[in-house]
Amino acid sequence: MSDDSSHSTRNPFTHAETPAVSVTIEHLSKSFGELQVLKDVSFKVAPGEIFVLMGPSGAGKSVLLRHIVGLELPNSGRVLVDNLDASDETTREKVRMALVFQAGALFNSLSVYDNLALYPREHQVGSEAEIREKVMHTLQILSLENTATKFPSELSGGMKKRVAIARALVMEPQLLLYDEPTSELDPVMGATISEIIGTLRNDYHVTSIVVSHDRDLALGVADRVGILMGGALMQVSPAAELREPKDPRIADFLNPKIDIKNPRFKKLET
Ligand SMILES: Nc1ncnc2c1ncn2[C@@H]1O[C@H](COP(=O)(O)OP(=O)(O)O)[C@@H](O)[C@H]1O
Ligand SMILES: [Mg+2]
Repeated sequence: MSDDSSHSTRNPFTHAETPAVSVTIEHLSKSFGELQVLKDVSFKVAPGEIFVLMGPSGAGKSVLLRHIVGLELPNSGRVLVDNLDASDETTREKVRMALVFQAGALFNSLSVYDNLALYPREHQVGSEAEIREKVMHTLQILSLENTATKFPSELSGGMKKRVAIARALVMEPQLLLYDEPTSELDPVMGATISEIIGTLRNDYHVTSIVVSHDRDLALGVADRVGILMGGALMQVSPAAELREPKDPRIADFLNPKIDIKNPRFKKLET
């Protein structure tokens, strides 16, 4: 975020530059029936920033991400992407955004190559030869060129996550959203994914929002970190401040102590 180049997104294929986009969450509240999942959440992600949203399971992180891509509509408040309302369908035509789903959401019946080619073919972005060049280039960026003819079932968990990221990248995103990109991965693979998230931002200046409960990932790549607990945004701070959290609830979430007297364990007993 220190140099001016982070204010424009560089297309990984054409190297054309477009202004990087911002994301603004304004007083966002969302309920499903009686359950209030998001409670008056407000924050802003700057163009080219890596913002990590952390919080325990069930905090509302995935629901918040779904609002940004317009898959979920607010009960009150609003979400703006590049100053356009995310709930407006035309926003997705104007801003290229890609969501890397938690489970990868790859098509098991398609090869890695065809998984990546799906979107460019559907949107007829070029000839089959042009699509091929783009897909193979994307696989190279993620060191996956040897997996093109493989099927998802033949890949390790870490490879599947990388293919899911590659499939998002092939959409030439200005905004990349990741849902738990390091979950179910061993620490080494988790570190590789963190590195990839950093590289994609540094090389292409995409704005990135990463939902995760992985503290190492947040400390490693985030410019700023937001902590969501029980649907409320508890704090937004530079990543370094996570090393010494002031709020005891946040401290307990980030550095859980194995103390069976802790209310967290009491809850498990019932
Ligand atoms: N479509 C839905 N209908 C009803 N409840 C939902 C729906 N989506 C999510 N929830 C509930 O909202 C809460 C937050 O979910 P989620 O955002 O997935 O949490 P997480 O922070 O783990 O990603 C959970 O209690 C979940 O059960
Ligand atoms: Mg989730």
